[in-house]
Amino acid sequence: MSEIVDLVIFGGTGDLSTRKLLPALYQLQRHNLANRLNRIIATGRGEMETEAFRREARANLEKYLPHENWDESVWEAFRERLEYVKVDADKADDYQQLAQLLTAGNTSGRLYYLATLPSLYGEICQQLQDAGVVNDDSRVVLEKPLGHDLQSCRAINQQVGRVFDEEATFRIDHYLGKETVQNLLALRFGNQLFHPMWNNTFISSVQITVAEEIGVAGRGSYYADTGALRDMVQNHLLQVLSLVAMEPPATLKATDIRDEKMKVLRCLEPITADNVKECTVRGRYTAGAVAGKAVKGFLEEDAFHDADNTETFVALKASINNWRWAGVPFYLRTGKRLSRRYSEIVIEYRQQSFSLFANDPQELTNKLVIHLQPEESISLHTVNKKPGLTNKLRLQPVELHLTDESQNRQDSYDAYERLLLDAIHGDQTLFMRRDEVETAWRWIDSIIEAWDENGTAIKSYNAGTMGPNAATALIAVDGRSWHE
Ligand SMILES: NC(=O)c1ccc[n+]([C@@H]2O[C@H](COP(=O)([O-])OP(=O)(O)OC[C@H]3O[C@@H](n4cnc5c(N)ncnc54)[C@H](OP(=O)(O)O)[C@@H]3O)[C@@H](O)[C@H]2O)c1
Repeated sequence: MSEIVDLVIFGGTGDLSTRKLLPALYQLQRHNLANRLNRIIATGRGEMETEAFRREARANLEKYLPHENWDESVWEAFRERLEYVKVDADKADDYQQLAQLLTAGNTSGRLYYLATLPSLYGEICQQLQDAGVVNDDSRVVLEKPLGHDLQSCRAINQQVGRVFDEEATFRIDHYLGKETVQNLLALRFGNQLFHPMWNNTFISSVQITVAEEIGVAGRGSYYADTGALRDMVQNHLLQVLSLVAMEPPATLKATDIRDEKMKVLRCLEPITADNVKECTVRGRYTAGAVAGKAVKGFLEEDAFHDADNTETFVALKASINNWRWAGVPFYLRTGKRLSRRYSEIVIEYRQQSFSLFANDPQELTNKLVIHLQPEESISLHTVNKKPGLTNKLRLQPVELHLTDESQNRQDSYDAYERLLLDAIHGDQTLFMRRDEVETAWRWIDSIIEAWDENGTAIKSYNAGTMGPNAATALIAVDGRSWHE
């Protein structure tokens, strides 16, 4: 495998490339981490000179990068790497132009980043092969969504698989690029304090929340056919769940970690017509106010008038049928237009079997809270003595912060920086394997079938709240409440 790669971004003029990929690549350059990256070749359907693309890229970088990260000398080196070539996905001649550019370069290493419509992935891979620019030094990165269900996901995987081996295929889930998600491994397997207690004897439940303030305006018809379950749970929430629940891997190598994640996905109890009512809630926002601003309801958005079978919120109670997790519910929820943007994992420990203290209510149980966004941090909720001379010994909650905030700020990076760096280096650990994605789809498909079979209604919630009341009820019947 060649040490140096040319990176070709299909969809190089699109939103993802503009807001995330190019800024992440600039940051790698700024941190002197781009030594294995050669050229960055952006493609789009329009005719454009490389110089014009570079001007556009500069304007966008200045817009999307924090002001303090701009450095003229970094830009000068970065701009030299940038090239633009027109490639329409189904035009063989365009690939010849790309091939000429690639073969004129000084490396055989190639990383193709597909940031276009997933329906084009198969075509692009085939055209690349026909143009003779796929070799043993080639890898491909696939953006989400990988299909709409198991069948369409398999079709994409098969088409891509005809050209690229699994070892050369990197499926992105940007949640895996987050520092705190990776920190889960350090926390779980690096601390004697946590790993003996990481099971159903000590843990009573796990919550995973991915809450968004934004709505769906601007996502065209895509969201109308997708909904929260497919858009968020199939990938981000199930990936996080599998990292929380997996057994210790034999080593930290990609295969071993992915094998363990895969076992968790296989142990997920199917949600079918028999249990869909107790285990799921679908919601859709109506008009309300988010961050002090009035917003329209989902069905009032121009693109979504007819999308009355699309949920913008979902809450689930998942069960993992294995020795470690039997009897521990995993509550998952995600939604649009919620009261605030945050993602977190909450590990709730069991209450003590007997308490010596008068004030030892439910809210004083130990919790480990892993915040994924907007800030990344980990805190342990414990209790200590309420200070003072008066009264008897009473408890009060206290939060211990387990992450070094100052170091965090200094070393913080965007998930795409981590993932691009790993893809450039050929490390698959933080990318999803084919069987993981397909097993996740199988579980999701079963829920959708059950919703259809049962005619599961979508409950309304006002924009700016935390979802429908039924989501509170889903967890309240187990004597619990969402951590907020
Ligand atoms: N935007 C995000 O934050 C985000 C987040 C996660 C995943 N994704 C995924 O990333 C992919 C791209 O999203 P995006 O938001 O960047 O979309 P976008 O803004 O609509 O950009 C689409 C890109 O694909 C190119 N393209 C479209 N049709 C093409 C064709 N027939 N042949 C060749 N190129 C074609 C466009 O080129 P021209 O316009 O120059 O023709 C443009 O560069 C999608 O799969 C999306 O689901 C996006």
